[in-house]
Amino acid sequence: MLNGKKIVLGITGSIAAYKAAYLCRALIKKGAEVQVVMTPAAKEFITPVTLSALTQKPVVSEFFTANDGSWHSHVDLGLWADLMLIAPATAATIGKMANGIADNMLITTYLSMKAPVFVAPAMDLDMFAHPATQHNLEKLRTYGNHIIEPTTGHLASNLEGKGRMEEPDTIVNTIDFFFNSALSKKKILITAGPTCEKIDPVRFIGNFSSGKMGFALAEVCAERGAEVVLIAGPVHLQTRHPNIQRIDVISAEDMYREAMKYFPKMDAAILCAAVADYRPAHYAAYKLKRQPDKPLTLELKPNPDIAASLGQIKTKTQALIGFALETDKEWTNAREKLQRKNLDFIVLNSLNDEGACFQSDTNKVSIIAANGSSETFPLKSKKEVAEDIVTWVL
Ligand code: PMT
Repeated sequence: MLNGKKIVLGITGSIAAYKAAYLCRALIKKGAEVQVVMTPAAKEFITPVTLSALTQKPVVSEFFTANDGSWHSHVDLGLWADLMLIAPATAATIGKMANGIADNMLITTYLSMKAPVFVAPAMDLDMFAHPATQHNLEKLRTYGNHIIEPTTGHLASNLEGKGRMEEPDTIVNTIDFFFNSALSKKKILITAGPTCEKIDPVRFIGNFSSGKMGFALAEVCAERGAEVVLIAGPVHLQTRHPNIQRIDVISAEDMYREAMKYFPKMDAAILCAAVADYRPAHYAAYKLKRQPDKPLTLELKPNPDIAASLGQIKTKTQALIGFALETDKEWTNAREKLQRKNLDFIVLNSLNDEGACFQSDTNKVSIIAANGSSETFPLKSKKEVAEDIVTWVL
């Protein structure tokens, strides 16, 4: 059910716009409150009167109301909504969304949207298959939007290829699942980013983790209804979702302390941080001076292993998911970590795969379960990888 969920339904100028009336009705039947925003072209295919009668709300289409000049606030709509659904979405609208071309009310609303956005493309096969469209869709995925893949249609007539908008019932079920998945109200701890181990007041031992993978996991879990505690090493990323409580830390010891504090209250933990295994044994209170003729030797001592420590205190009802960042003997090493740290799942990513691991917007992972089952996924955006991990683990 979608009781009380506020949904902005964006409709664009496709022949599939006639299905928007059914979509509207199906969303309302499930308990959602729907506000329609139409592009001017959409009105050629379905009248605003039909949609306002169904939603019991005036349809928003222009920046200003024609009769009194009052202004429609796309910012207010962006704050009001729990979800924005753009269905049907034409190639033109997808292109504008991908490139921030805010020349109509629907796109300005999209750009102001704080809630998750679902996009149901509708166009003919050749337009859908064109590299420009695929490139734009890829951009939307990297922005964290959810693409509801068009159907292949019934190929009997050979007229309908992939590109036809997904059926309204399936779209509504996708949204229903999104809000009511098994993660609803679950508490999930996520670690993300690097840790920095101070040598002196200006230097540290660190690594290349940007936090992107861990932050994508936090967003996906929160969007699916979980309450997320995100323990983040020093990164330049923002969190968007209100269900994410962020705790910033610097060192592995800080991260360990916070993880041990929060984990007992959690249903699951996903440990994506690249934690330094060692830290300098002695912190120099003053900046170390350069001594040109003498090599500098740093003594290092081991940091606590957060994953292994949580693995030791984990209860039967808690799930523990770790990552393995490998450069060689990937599967052997990942399986060894899975067992040694008492994890339920491990997500393996390898530096040998182009576009995977540190810094990039993409990743390529295999998920291995403690029961021995596994699945390997192709290169995808980190948001999609996060979706795969959450779906698989569920
Ligand atoms: O942040 P990005 O730029 O997006 O990059 C993402 C990533 C490459 C950092 C991420 O996908 C990833 O692989 N994270 C784990 C990195 C890592 O430290 O892997 P590991 O194989 O060394 O550690 C195994 C597991 O133990 C991990 O879950 C790690 O969080 C955990 N660990 C490791 C050491 C330690 N002292 N405490 C830990 O909890």
